[in-house]
Amino acid sequence: KARYGVFGNPINHSKSPTIHRLFAKQTQQQLQYNAYCIELDRFESAVKEFFANNGGGLNVTVPFKESAFQLADNLTERALQAGAVNTLWQDQQGELWGDNTDGVGLVRDIQQNHAFSLQGKRILVLGAGGAVRGVLAPLLEAGPQSITIANRTHAKAEQLASVFQAAGNVTAQQLSSLASLVANDGTFDFVINGTAASLAGELPPLPESLISPTTCTYDMMYGPNITVFNQWAKEAGGRVQLDGLGMLVEQAAESFYCWRGIRPDTQPVIERLLCEMQ
Ligand code: ATR
Repeated sequence: KARYGVFGNPINHSKSPTIHRLFAKQTQQQLQYNAYCIELDRFESAVKEFFANNGGGLNVTVPFKESAFQLADNLTERALQAGAVNTLWQDQQGELWGDNTDGVGLVRDIQQNHAFSLQGKRILVLGAGGAVRGVLAPLLEAGPQSITIANRTHAKAEQLASVFQAAGNVTAQQLSSLASLVANDGTFDFVINGTAASLAGELPPLPESLISPTTCTYDMMYGPNITVFNQWAKEAGGRVQLDGLGMLVEQAAESFYCWRGIRPDTQPVIERLLCEMQ
């Protein structure tokens, strides 16, 4: 059986093995998929060893996405734009390919699973780290009217906006100016939380006026309970609150497609994970 897996550190809470084993069963693909905790200085040698030993493909997660980007011989366009790689495979010539399926995962979860079109919408993205950089190009491809980036460290938001400006209407705003922005221009259709704040159960300082009855929020994090950010948006009277579980399954499905050329049905897998988390 061809070997697949995910490299990260830490890795013990990864849901990727569950997801990919369900995909394999559903599509009747013979493969194995395991999670590997890789020592921080051994990423490169571990990747080489994996592919030399019947490795079919790898997912890469924190903190190795930038290392995978450096290591790949060839990059897809979306990996180039993301500056990070979450999917690796080897071609017939033994060259290593790197792709990034995170952004496509986010956009598919919003537009297909939850049936909210992003076309012509005003989007606010909170955060300016690797997670946000990874999703901006696919978000822009969905054709929003604008994307505004706000981050605790404003310079990082400005830097990201300048990188993606050529691809669409992307600007950076101070967190502290969001209230007056909303007062002048109206609320956003979508507010996407891509900060790591929810990991610590924290919230960036946000004005309640950011959320109106038409505002959808999306937290790229997920957990058994509603995230702090979504709880805040719910209490502020937002339209709907979505979390990142669907994004996780969709990015996995796109990786599976890169490796096997088959698109698994994500809905039963999302439902199964939801059940297991209860
Ligand atoms: P990731 O790869 O998950 O994006 P990262 O590159 O370290 O990780 O980025 C983390 C993001 O969450 C950054 O935008 C960070 O803000 P700063 O750029 O100011 O550091 C944001 N973040 C983390 N903790 C936060 C908190 N408690 N409040 C607000 N923003 C936070």
